Amino acid sequence: MRLPTRHLLGIEGLHPRDISALLDLAESYVLLNRSGKTRRDVLRGRTLINLFFEDSTRTRTSFELAGKRLGADVINMSVSTSSVSKGETLLDTAATLNAMNCDLLVVRHKASGAPALLAQKVDAAVINAGDGMHEHPTQALLDALTIRRNKGTLAGLTVAICGDIAHSRVARSNLLLLTAMGSRVRVVGPPTLIPAGIDQFGASVFHDMREGLRDADIVMALRLQTERMSAGLIPSAREFFTFYGLDAAKLAVAKPDALVMHPGPMNRGVEIDSQVADDAARSVIREQVEMGVAIRMAVLDVLARTALAHA
Ligand code: NCD
Repeated sequence: MRLPTRHLLGIEGLHPRDISALLDLAESYVLLNRSGKTRRDVLRGRTLINLFFEDSTRTRTSFELAGKRLGADVINMSVSTSSVSKGETLLDTAATLNAMNCDLLVVRHKASGAPALLAQKVDAAVINAGDGMHEHPTQALLDALTIRRNKGTLAGLTVAICGDIAHSRVARSNLLLLTAMGSRVRVVGPPTLIPAGIDQFGASVFHDMREGLRDADIVMALRLQTERMSAGLIPSAREFFTFYGLDAAKLAVAKPDALVMHPGPMNRGVEIDSQVADDAARSVIREQVEMGVAIRMAVLDVLARTALAHA
């Protein structure tokens, strides 16, 4: 398979056919990873640079693991130890990386659109690993893979995304992907944390957890992204937990077999209760992490092939 573009900057612009093909390819990488084998021929001789201007645990390590399992040379650049802390601009950093003939550039940045800007300036295929409040496409893909493996399909499911929707690139990418694949998406949270006009993107808006979670197949909790909040948008973390924290009582109105998801990092006792997060029968939070490696292998594989086709 090939993608319509050389880069993966967002879910926006992907056709449902591309999404399904990426999920299918990732399935084969799940099997490979579970078998303990690798396929170092896929990216042999290719260089992948992880360029992270924001903190990350799961996304950075899973891109690193994905690149290594496919045979790429992987370099991790974290900004606190690079010349960016000496005042170098994003584009100068990009020009430097370009001169090193990097093939795949994974970028996380606090500014929406930073990966798209870099994509215009470098020869590498750019993968958006989260840009501000905009998109986080590989997170939405790994969430979709986790859902599809557990429910068999994405079409017709009711997915409730709860909490800080306004500051969440995960919510935005998930909304785009899930509606494209035929799921019904609800966003649930206080009015201050739901962006105006989100209903135009196909989401139904709820301000009450019991209404928003009723008969849901999937319940996804999101962290309060206080680093992106300019003013106090919630009275207190404790009050937020009372009204919007995902606990057993609120989850009880969802379908009996509803799955609990969270992209991480979790703030236990704020957006999710430990009992729910650790409930092996409902929570697929660890499986999401496993699917993250497989999805990133599929994305790197496809972008390397797409680049060959463009060369
Ligand atoms: C998310 C992110 O960085 O957007 N984390 C992740 O990639 N798994 C969500 C968050 O920061 O809360």
